Amino acid sequence: AAPVDLGAVSGLDWQPLREAVAGCTACALAQSRTQTVFGVGHPQAHWMIVGEAPGEQEDLRGEPFVGAAGQLLDAMLRALALSRAADGDPAQRVYIANTLKCRPPRNRNPAPDELQRCEPFLVRQIELVKPRIILAMGRFAVQALLRSSEPIGKLRGRVHRYQGVPLVVTYHPAYLLRNLPDKARAWDDLCLAAAVAE
Ligand code: URA
Repeated sequence: AAPVDLGAVSGLDWQPLREAVAGCTACALAQSRTQTVFGVGHPQAHWMIVGEAPGEQEDLRGEPFVGAAGQLLDAMLRALALSRAADGDPAQRVYIANTLKCRPPRNRNPAPDELQRCEPFLVRQIELVKPRIILAMGRFAVQALLRSSEPIGKLRGRVHRYQGVPLVVTYHPAYLLRNLPDKARAWDDLCLAAAVAE
């Protein structure tokens, strides 16, 4: 598998970037995916949300966070008057992307070489959106953006920075489906992010 050419990706606008992702064969996930999952939302959204990797539903539908975890995420966003619609007021919109654009087999964890090869796509998505706040959900998003392997519990509750952009860390919604106490903490994290985005 050829590594993604970082230099080539860093200059791409939305459509060529989308095509580069769709045709990517930089790691072995290209063989097992149904399709790539690029990202969804308003291209100038004030919020950028970064998850882990597509699951079964996302791989089938080609959109991030459309399964059970995504429904929880959408409900939390709705409570803050935020949505993933591609049009409308950017202040009330999110752009959602994953650290990996392809589903790992049986939803196993992303491998280090997969994360490394896929990262230029996420970096470029963030550059194009220019969000006012980034919400990093779960440990792989945090590792990619903060280069930290500290547990979420240690990093949440305060504002970090990614390339100068304020970044809030929270639990992954798939984890929240199984953990009620941390749901309340995640809600606090979203409210912190909302205050920063104001
Ligand atoms: N979990 C993620 O991290 N991303 C998705 O798109 C779906 C589930």
